Amino acid sequence: MPGRYPEAWIEELRERADLVQIISSYVPLKKKGKNYWGLCPFHGEKTASFSVNPEGRFYYCFGCKAGGSVINFIMEMEHMSYGEALKYLADMVHMPVPQLEEDPDYQQKQSQNERLLNANREAARFFHQTLFTEAGRQSLEYLKGRGLNDHIIRRFGLGAAPDSWDSLLKHLLSLGYTAKELELAGLTVVKEAENATETSPARPRRQYDMFRNRAMFPIIDAHGYVRGFGGRILGKGEPKYLNTSDTPVYNKRLGVYAANLLHKERHLDHVVLVEGYMDVIALSQYGVKGVVATLGTSLTDEQARLIKRYVPKVYLAYDGDSAGQHAILRGLDIFRNAGVDVHVLDFPDGLDPDEFIRKEGLEGFESLPVLSPETYRLRRLKESYDLSTKEGRTEYAKAAGSILKNLQPVELENHIQDLMLQTGFSRDVLLAQIGYSKSEAVPVQTGTRTVSPVSRRVPSSQPSNEHVRGEELLISLFATGKLPPDELMDEEDFTDPFLKNVFHALKSGRSPAAIIEMQKTPEDIDRASRLMTPPPAEDTNELLQLARQGIHTMRAARLEEEIAQITKSMSALPPAEQLQAMTRLMELQKMRNQI
Ligand code: UTP
Ligand code: MN
Repeated sequence: MPGRYPEAWIEELRERADLVQIISSYVPLKKKGKNYWGLCPFHGEKTASFSVNPEGRFYYCFGCKAGGSVINFIMEMEHMSYGEALKYLADMVHMPVPQLEEDPDYQQKQSQNERLLNANREAARFFHQTLFTEAGRQSLEYLKGRGLNDHIIRRFGLGAAPDSWDSLLKHLLSLGYTAKELELAGLTVVKEAENATETSPARPRRQYDMFRNRAMFPIIDAHGYVRGFGGRILGKGEPKYLNTSDTPVYNKRLGVYAANLLHKERHLDHVVLVEGYMDVIALSQYGVKGVVATLGTSLTDEQARLIKRYVPKVYLAYDGDSAGQHAILRGLDIFRNAGVDVHVLDFPDGLDPDEFIRKEGLEGFESLPVLSPETYRLRRLKESYDLSTKEGRTEYAKAAGSILKNLQPVELENHIQDLMLQTGFSRDVLLAQIGYSKSEAVPVQTGTRTVSPVSRRVPSSQPSNEHVRGEELLISLFATGKLPPDELMDEEDFTDPFLKNVFHALKSGRSPAAIIEMQKTPEDIDRASRLMTPPPAEDTNELLQLARQGIHTMRAARLEEEIAQITKSMSALPPAEQLQAMTRLMELQKMRNQI
């Protein structure tokens, strides 16, 4: 929750992550006055009652009363925790996430990461330009030889690393990047020379280009930043692909290849997940949409969550070889745990997606068998039993039973029929083995992405009290910068505890967005959001008038309250204190009369 990270950092994040821009990528917004309006993404509606306030950096729906900061918005839309949303946004705007409350290197890290990302972009540009020169001729021939056309080469920003030890190094140094930065970005490598001599005991360091004489694949993130590279050898040799290892701006566990295209292809309902660079590119060239790669076979939970942010459904299109098959089982588990609806594309003859689509075209690809997770698991399971023996059939039936648990009846039915044929057991026996009984409610699996219904937000009743309204008006004016400093009131002036808290937070420098974010109940979110919405201010004087009146009402109410209290308790006080109370009472009455 807020406070785990320094508030100043979170506030900077709220400022940098452009609320209007981010919300617009989910909901079309129209500017009307100072605010933007659109159809609320949290409840179905036909007229726009969802407002985005760029000044206060918060949104508020007048229909369902949902409100919050950019962080709340991302939490709702992407189903993230507060911490996850912070990291997601920080990543989007390139702010390093501080470790603890205090991170003195923060500023420095931030500018360093920006420089590394810029160096990567320059490197990608350099490789791409080289591809069309003599130094890149071999790479270009290689890529063309693999069937890629100019259009797709440009779309993926492919390039060539020249056959040279230092052409990228020299180029980037000439652009002002330091040798250290290039090393950090993984664009160059440094070797300490073996032969240190007596006279020069300090081993000379030799720095040279990481990628040489390779076809280059930039790894671009969802926001268009070049995070790293893969370089393929031009022909046979080891390693086939050389990849950027982890750097301050690249962690291969966290991203997927071609995330930039995924981000652009809005309204996809699924992605096709493949293993390699060339699989993504070949499928894309043939017109398959939403293809991304894990680059190698080890899918991580983080990658699964990243994919889930975009689509509810994944087709695993891993290679038909045994490493690929193993990766599918792992992928099924990871996606199931992440709550993603996952299926397996069944490639024949151990072909990888690249080879397959070149042979069979888009049509062939689209008519590939789609296997459910259970079908795939059963198929793999069956391979390890000898179904020609009674023991084999029995063990297989048992193991199959645990795979088929939790399936819906219709899905189950197909498998049961297969199993009956394969094992010879009757339907009843198999059903009993699976542990399925007709009376039990079958858990419904919804793999689909549903925006959480916001019915839990109940509209709160308007406070009726006259002076509470005065307090509210004051807060609104204060929060939206309409109250001049000399009108500042005192925390003590507030009788309503909620308003008192909000005022305290505002006075200690919290932004409207931060204050809405702090609220815990739907009622409070609603109330805070409305408070932070500036009153329609045609006539500033009139508002000021109202504000002054508000302060007076507040103060009068407070005085009245104290007077009533003292009067009530007076007679029960010891004589010495009675005098004191009397004096205070007179003071209060005088103050009241002044108002
Ligand atoms: P594959 O060995 O299946 O290669 O590795 P590929 O994608 O079919 O490559 P081409 O078609 O021969 O060019 C799949 C992925 O594993 C990673 C790469 O990301 C590759 O695309 N890999 C593979 C490496 O990082 N290094 C390697 O040496 C091999
Ligand atoms: Mn391949």
